[in-house]
Amino acid sequence: MADIAGIDLAQVLSSLEEQGYCHIKQVPDSYDYISALSSLGPLVAQYQGDLIREVQPNPAVPEGANSAASTSAATPHTEFYEFPGMPPRYVALWCVRPAVPDGGATTLADGYRFLAGFTADERLRLSSEDRDWRSRPTLSAEGIAPASCRTPALVQHRGRVVMRFSTRDLTRDGELTSAYIDRGQEFFHTHHIAVRLEERAILIWDNWRMIHARTAFDDRRRHLRRILIGEAA
Ligand SMILES: [Fe+2]
Repeated sequence: MADIAGIDLAQVLSSLEEQGYCHIKQVPDSYDYISALSSLGPLVAQYQGDLIREVQPNPAVPEGANSAASTSAATPHTEFYEFPGMPPRYVALWCVRPAVPDGGATTLADGYRFLAGFTADERLRLSSEDRDWRSRPTLSAEGIAPASCRTPALVQHRGRVVMRFSTRDLTRDGELTSAYIDRGQEFFHTHHIAVRLEERAILIWDNWRMIHARTAFDDRRRHLRRILIGEAA
């Protein structure tokens, strides 16, 4: 049976299913993250075709910007909401160097619990009405072409809800969209958990279900790596 850093794949999958995320610590030195994490599904190319995104402060991105490439807090979102089609199934981050002495925690909240606060009629509208999504404006500072798409916030897929969320880059086109954004922000604020990854730790989460964000930090040497994992066949 395959494993990820000594944890059975079945156990990783059950943690993802039950709580929406899995935190694995004390990964061995020189670990082959790519081949281990590929056991969850095919890797998805990121903005410029790379399989690994280096998550570290980028001098081209202004301080204070809402971006993974700054030292500021990132606002709640799911990954790749601005691209049409199915967003990545899982996001995995591993830590090369944490922010010292603190900060830069990844925060997560359960989007399915958040959705339970909407009426059946609201959820139906969120599943059937197209909405406008666009890239964070700061991505272009990194030389990444902005993207946009028009698609519902919720998509039913193989018995699951695939959720998109962004407090910043979903166009407020009416009362329900504004309620989705504002109540999502409030829910996230109240219910998130924070994981500050230690060196050689991995955090994997279900990107169809979990909303994530990040706390601010000062240490510009903080360095994480991110991969996106598609749906397994
Ligand atoms: Fe993100």
